[in-house]
Amino acid sequence: MAKVNGKVIWITGASSGIGKALAKELAQKGTQLILSSRQDEALQAVQNSFPAAARENSRILPLDLAQPETLEAKANEALAMFGRIDILIHSGGISQRGMALDTKITVDRRIMEVNYFGAIILTKAVLPSMIANGFGHLVPISSLVGKFGSPFRSGYAASKHALHGFFDSLRAETYQQNILITLVTPGFVQTNVSLNALTEDGKELNQMDEGQQKGMRAEDCARKIISGIEQEKNELLMGGKEVLAVYLKRFFPGLFARVIRKAKVR
Ligand SMILES: NC(=O)c1ccc[n+]([C@@H]2O[C@H](COP(=O)([O-])OP(=O)(O)OC[C@H]3O[C@@H](n4cnc5c(N)ncnc54)[C@H](OP(=O)(O)O)[C@@H]3O)[C@@H](O)[C@H]2O)c1
Repeated sequence: MAKVNGKVIWITGASSGIGKALAKELAQKGTQLILSSRQDEALQAVQNSFPAAARENSRILPLDLAQPETLEAKANEALAMFGRIDILIHSGGISQRGMALDTKITVDRRIMEVNYFGAIILTKAVLPSMIANGFGHLVPISSLVGKFGSPFRSGYAASKHALHGFFDSLRAETYQQNILITLVTPGFVQTNVSLNALTEDGKELNQMDEGQQKGMRAEDCARKIISGIEQEKNELLMGGKEVLAVYLKRFFPGLFARVIRKAKVR
């Protein structure tokens, strides 16, 4: 069991939702935190909510995951802040609400850039130092939609499936170097994810989904993620009854296909 206490943890998507809840929870656990997302002021508000000692032990590093050419330099800045990164949590991401056929290819590309390429560029930039230090833990926040596709989320599901392909391969490649990877696959969590989700033409949906509204609290999700990190889990499924869809697809794929086509998930 690897405790988070004393670890240097870099969190993307720390201004809102799951990343913000993780930051607040980890700030109580004797960690050193680096908080990233695009919105400097929102990150400062998260940092200001920490107890005084945790505020001292945290830094803010604004970045845009949709600007790949800037990310290696951002990773170097992050590494310089406390001299190392032990745990990198990729919570920055955007969702989608739009039919595949009607969705502009620029929207598919943006979702892939933020959710997939952003995460792997940062990973590749910090991994050599983790290997040199003899330890590192990577925590991509995927989704249940990384395990199966559902209507209105083709580009989002693709980006999350891609994370599984990349990080499952990387886990096998870096096992000998003591690099741990916990792929987190939540179902519905109460956050702004549906408000920020991109529609067919790239505009934000700006609507709270029923699924998210009735979903797991972000604080509970964060506690489960921290416990999964400490237990060094390879994959962490969480959520309500929607989690059953993963097993339905695995054991009864024909039935799953009939159920998912009727899913009211827009
Ligand atoms: N909520 C759910 O039901 C659910 C379920 C499964 C998986 N997830 C995944 O959980 C992760 C966190 O989402 P959430 O639910 O917490 O949603 P959220 O409240 O919308 O938070 C998303 C975070 O991502 C950051 N972000 C978005 N675009 C970015 C960009 N271009 N560059 C840098 N940061 C960016 C946002 O910060 P800024 O706006 O400040 O940049 C924000 O901090 C996402 O990967 C999402 O796919 C969520």
